[in-house]
Order: sequence, then structure tokens, then C-alpha cells
Amino acid sequence: MDSKHDIKEQFLNTPTTVNSHSVEDLNVDFKEHLYVDRLNYLREEISKLNIKELEITQDDLIDKFCDPENPVPIKFNDISAAAYRIKGGVEVTPCTRSHMSALTGMEIFFKKDFLQYTGSFKERGARYALLSLSKEQKVNGVIAASAGNHAQALCYHGKLLKIPVVVVMPKIAPIMKVSNCRSYGAIVVIEGTNISEAKTYALKLSKMLNLMYINGYDHPDILAGQGTMALEIIEQVPNVDAIVVPTGGAGLLAGITVAAKYMNPDIMIISAESERCASFYNSMINGKPTFTKPESTLADGLAVPLVGVNSYASAHKLVDKCVRVKEEFIAIAILRLLELEKAVVEGAGACGFAAIVQGLLPELKGKRVVIPLCGGNIDTSILGRVLERALVADGRLIKIWVTILDRPGGLTEFCKLISSNGASIKDIAHERAWLKDDIFSVQVQGVLEVENSEKARELEMKLRSKYENVVMAPYGGF
Ligand SMILES: Cc1ncc(COP(=O)(O)O)c(C=O)c1O
Repeated sequence: MDSKHDIKEQFLNTPTTVNSHSVEDLNVDFKEHLYVDRLNYLREEISKLNIKELEITQDDLIDKFCDPENPVPIKFNDISAAAYRIKGGVEVTPCTRSHMSALTGMEIFFKKDFLQYTGSFKERGARYALLSLSKEQKVNGVIAASAGNHAQALCYHGKLLKIPVVVVMPKIAPIMKVSNCRSYGAIVVIEGTNISEAKTYALKLSKMLNLMYINGYDHPDILAGQGTMALEIIEQVPNVDAIVVPTGGAGLLAGITVAAKYMNPDIMIISAESERCASFYNSMINGKPTFTKPESTLADGLAVPLVGVNSYASAHKLVDKCVRVKEEFIAIAILRLLELEKAVVEGAGACGFAAIVQGLLPELKGKRVVIPLCGGNIDTSILGRVLERALVADGRLIKIWVTILDRPGGLTEFCKLISSNGASIKDIAHERAWLKDDIFSVQVQGVLEVENSEKARELEMKLRSKYENVVMAPYGGF
């Protein structure tokens, strides 16, 4: 027997202590040795593969923990066990009354899970799933497909617990999430154009390399871990009337629903999805998990084409309402959260609040409503673009084309009208050649900043009363 094998055998024969938190109670160097050794081995094996060319059979695609023929709903006990085990390893995040309560006519509380170390609630399930592995699985390691937050959570807690982690991320995964996973020392494979393709490769690799596949929205331990958020909410906010849950694969929804309804069946549970991938909504309509073609959305974390079978089985009878949110309201929600709540929240994490911004939940007026802000991982360049779009949707950034007199004083007059209305010019350009109006006219194209959409309308009216040809790009919103 070679020495590596010897060490591993020795480890596997060491008795496990109850409720220990890592590759249990082993000499630290010994644990580190196994971890590094296995990661190196996996890295080398994966680098030799041409993943796209792997032959994939139906058997490769089986995940025995997520069996469509035999879905397993989680129970409240699973969630309380998860809460006990992850205590101390995952933050208890604040759940505070929002400045936006007056604006929305609801008493809004934000559960700030974007404050977790890796910036999302996914740590809850990831840590619990890792802690629940058998000793042998802890040595062999795990694999997952994820566009970002589940991957980051697994990679980070894998590093802390010395459990090797491989993640397969689709090509659309945000750069920030990919580089974070690498920074946690995990093996990152970029493959597949969407999460479903990434999952196919991950399942194949799990079988080839003896890695346990952990579905980020459907493994029962993941659902139990996510449910711990509801236990905290109920302790932090007395007399909650409703929780509005951003939904992708529905793992968070399942965990929160089972926990909250067990504690108080009167709490209303609302699922909020992007209308560009409303897979839970469609599944509820069809009475079973239903494939929904995802379109590109700001809420990349929610773009899961098929909800989890265990998640659906856990949640579908208990969820009170499902709403589909438009992209522009997700953008406005991100802007509001930044401006009024001082919170940087990604599209998926802002989707619950976006449902309220869009006016999809009028029945919650006057109620105590908790909204998980469940992720904050947004690329800075995307955030910049989102904010500009949100300002347009909000009617605070407007674009106009006005034909004015091309004589001395024509432009001054135009600018005076703009500034007397409290608007400021961000950009201005002139067009002369392509005009059909009289030769002494010029078309001015301007991008203007105004206080709000009402001011934009006022300005539009004033411009129209002075100039004949005024065109405004569509604007408006909440
Ligand atoms: C920030 C954020 N919010 C919500 C969700 C939805 O979670 P689930 O897939 O469990 O429905 C995700 C999923 O990745 C997410 O990243």
C-alpha cells in the first residue's frame, strides 16, 4: 500500500465524533495533506479532459438525491437540525425596518443576507450540505453546477472545512463570481452556455471522479439550510404577515415556506421571479415542474429553467401567490435599495422588492412584510449599466430631440429653458445635414437629468409649447 493510500485508510478508520464541524477532529496537518493532495489530483485529471467531447449517457444524468419519480419534501425538523449545525459558521444577518415603509405603504423589513461573507444566503445550504457528508465524501470532495452564488458558497465553506470543491460554471456566469470561486482555492470549470448544460457536465464529472454532486436548489440538505433564514426572520420580526421570496430553482422558497408555515400557517408566502424565466410560476400552472426557456435577465441567479423536484414538492401546496417581475422594475429596485437603503443588491436578490415596486402586491398594504435581500454579487460594470437603465425607467434620465433656431442665441435660449426647469444637461449633440426643416434650424439631441418623472413631464410640456419638433424617448416608472 502506498503512503497516500495508507493515510487515507487511517483517516477513514478514525472514529467520527458527534457534532464535530469539519473533517472531524483530525490532526490539522493530516487533514490539510489529504485536502491538498486530492485537489491536486482532481486538477490534474480535469486538465487532461476535453469536457465538451465527453460521452454522456442517461445514467450519467441521474442525481439520486433529486429523483423526479420520487421527490422528497423537506420537513421542519430538517430545517431545525440545519440551524443547529450551521450555527457559528454562517452569519445571523440583520432584519431591519426599511426607510421604504412610508413610500410603499407597507411595513417593510429587509433580511440582509447579502451581508454573508460570500455575499449571499447560499452559504446556509452549502455549509449544511458539506457538514452532512460522510467522512469518505468529505475526503473525495463535491461538485456543483452554478452560475455563481451556490458555487461561491460551496467553494468558501469547502476551503474552511477542507473539503475539495469543483464547480462547473456556465459561460454566462458573472466575472466577479468566477474569480471569487478561484480565490477560495476551488477548481473552476467554465463550460456550457447555460446552467442546464453546466449541470450536465458536472454530473458527468461527478461520476468519473467520485465527487458528490450537490444541487444548489434541490438537494434536501440545501433546502433545509436555506430554511434557516425563516427561523431567523420569525425571531427577528414579531407578527410577520408576509414574506416575499426571490425564486430561481425554488430551494430558498421551499426552505422558507416549510419553516414559516410550520411556525405560523397564517404567514403569506409569495414567490417572486423574473418574467424572463418564470419557471416556478409555470410549474404551478401545470401542476408539476415544467421546463421554461430562460431569457437573459438582470436576475441571473434566478435563471433556472426547471425548478427542483424536491423544492417543488416541498413548496407547491403552501405557497400563497406567485408573481412575475419585469426587468425595468428589478433595475429600479436595485436603484432604490442603493439610494435609500445603502444596500448593494444584485438583480436576483432585489426581485422580491421589485415585485412591490411594480405594484404586483397591493394586498400587502398596511401589512408587515419581510423581503430577503438575498444576494449582493453584482459586477461593478453591470451595476453602472443597471443604474443608468433604472434612472431612465424612473423618469430621471431623459433623452430629447428638439429642432431649434440655428442663429446666434438659439442654443442659449434652449439651454435656459432646460435649466429654468431644474434639469441638467449630461450630453448634447447637433444635427444639421439630415434635416428637412428650414436651413436655419438645427436638431439638438440632449441627455438630461431631472428630479423625477413629474419634472420630466413638465419639461416636455414647456418644450412642446416653445418648439414645433420635440421628440422624447419613452421614460417613466414607479
Ligand atoms: C441572490 C439570489 N437570490 C435568490 C436565488 C434563488 O434561489 P433558489 O435557486 O433556491 O430559488 C438565488 C439563486 O441562485 C440567488 O443567487
